[in-house]
Amino acid sequence: RTSGLGKDLLDVAAIPRGEIEYLLTLAARLKDKQRRGLPHPLLQGKTLGLLFQKPSTRTRVSFEAGMNQLGGHALVLPMGDIQLSRGESVADTARVLSRYLDGIVIRTYNHATVEEWAAEATMPVINGLTDLSHPCQALSDLLTIREKKGRLRGLKIAYVGDGNNVANSLIEATAKTGMTIALGCPSGYQPDQHVIDRARLEAAGTGAAIELGHDPQIAVKEADVIYADVWISMGREREQARRLKVLAPYQVNARLVGRAKPDAIVMHCLPAHRGEEITEEVLDGPQSVIIDQAENRLHMQKAILTRLLGKRKQRAS
Ligand code: CP
Ligand code: NVA
Repeated sequence: RTSGLGKDLLDVAAIPRGEIEYLLTLAARLKDKQRRGLPHPLLQGKTLGLLFQKPSTRTRVSFEAGMNQLGGHALVLPMGDIQLSRGESVADTARVLSRYLDGIVIRTYNHATVEEWAAEATMPVINGLTDLSHPCQALSDLLTIREKKGRLRGLKIAYVGDGNNVANSLIEATAKTGMTIALGCPSGYQPDQHVIDRARLEAAGTGAAIELGHDPQIAVKEADVIYADVWISMGREREQARRLKVLAPYQVNARLVGRAKPDAIVMHCLPAHRGEEITEEVLDGPQSVIIDQAENRLHMQKAILTRLLGKRKQRAS
């Protein structure tokens, strides 16, 4: 089956709905194989580069381990070690690395930087998080929600706190799959307006809904999933004092969780700041699925890699 992903994976919004379904199926299949110890060397001889301008635990390790499990190789390129840090252009770096690598994951600040990489590189470029979005996270989260709830369509997810990159990608992912996302974010901390407008168009075709709001109590009402992320994303450290104050009423705690459906699951992309956006009690409580959620990064990203770097994606160059 030919990949409907296109060359790159920069945002969930650009992925056709059918391809999201396919990725979910493939990820589940690869997860089953890995769990049963069955080899699945779908990317033998392929090399993936990983370029991080921000710290990472899950993204880096899951891509690296995933590439190994697929029979390929991954190469972390510390920013300070490559000439990009001494002023070499993205264009030159991208064109040269495309001759060595079969794909690259990039974590950076400006979303425009990954777009520039995608435009210049002839290899697939995967967004490993920008200030705007975190597509690999949201796609993996769909897998987790589907595993836990048996479906996606019709479910309600409440996103509480800072309307950041993770929120933006979740909005896109829920719009694609017919879910309702209710935002409980302070004013001034709402998700990206362009993302919302684009997702609303998509939602019209899938039965999804995007409910904007400032009240976490309203957001979690009847929710099947409660989702939290840090209040101070990477790069926002200087805003710490103000954010801690504005976001304090948005903590995901036992009282808030108690207002959702009794069988609601609690998600957090991690890393968590325990006692800030979420309490220890909730994070480690029976409704939390955070570790399974983190595991699924591995399986979904292996599906993404297989689709972008696999045989059927060979291009003339
Ligand atoms: N959730 C996530 O992307 O984690 P890392 O920052 O550890 O990669
Ligand atoms: N919103 C967080 C996500 C980290 C995985 C950040 O950008 O730092």
